[in-house]
Amino acid sequence: MIYDNKLDSCEIFKYINKNIKINKIYLFDEITSTNEFGKTINNDDGYYDLIISNCQTNGKGRLGRSFYSPSNTGIYMSIVFNNLPNSYNFVNITSITAVVVTKAIEELTGLNIGIKWVNDLYLNDKKIAGILVEGITNSNENITSKIIVGIGINLSTDSFPKELIDIAGSLNSEISKNMLIGYIVNYFDYYFNSSKNEYLDIYKSHSIIIGKDIIYYKDNIPHYGKAIDINNNCELVVLDSEGIIDILRTGEISIRVKK
Ligand code: BTN
Repeated sequence: MIYDNKLDSCEIFKYINKNIKINKIYLFDEITSTNEFGKTINNDDGYYDLIISNCQTNGKGRLGRSFYSPSNTGIYMSIVFNNLPNSYNFVNITSITAVVVTKAIEELTGLNIGIKWVNDLYLNDKKIAGILVEGITNSNENITSKIIVGIGINLSTDSFPKELIDIAGSLNSEISKNMLIGYIVNYFDYYFNSSKNEYLDIYKSHSIIIGKDIIYYKDNIPHYGKAIDINNNCELVVLDSEGIIDILRTGEISIRVKK
């Protein structure tokens, strides 16, 4: 099937389940960062806003990195909402989103996607998508009032900057952007509102680091160990080189799988 791969909000709406409350889809040809734009939106209780751009001039990644976001070849989107459960945490939302994007891609392409804790999606040893979850804290009450879930997917990007050539890849699959975005929103709404931890089993079964020797960096200091599990809070359980269990709680940790 040949898809018209132009972003189109009417088409996206067509794929989103009718019971999901969407306030607005903001569509851009170019933007600095969909996450940054998301922070400026005042959204209604219980409604999602979607910000999607054909390219980003200042796409943001984790740990202060940038996310390469060239025109036409990827999906750069943010889901903004304020209906936060009391007991949420960023690692959970990040891992739920990793499962959501994995499920949507696998369903539409038949490919097998791997998840590298906590927020990177892989295909054939190359990173094809990343997730950046950010929150806006209400300074008076010191509570998070809004969440911005940023998703970047390389669909058909075939030339990357020098520093990414060995790391980044693309899905290289004929896939409708509008349909994929719709599926992502549907799965997000489902898993985010599910009271069961069912996402966790999917997350674990797609993990590409459980059982692997890893190097992890805390405050730039390298630590060596074996990733042995992902626990119920979606924390990474590591057996360090001295035989001591280390629990990696935050996504603010950089991990490399030892080859
Ligand atoms: C990472 O790989 O470290 C996370 C990348 C997240 C990229 C997405 S693209 C859409 C949204 N807007 C941004 O500026 N970043 C996220």
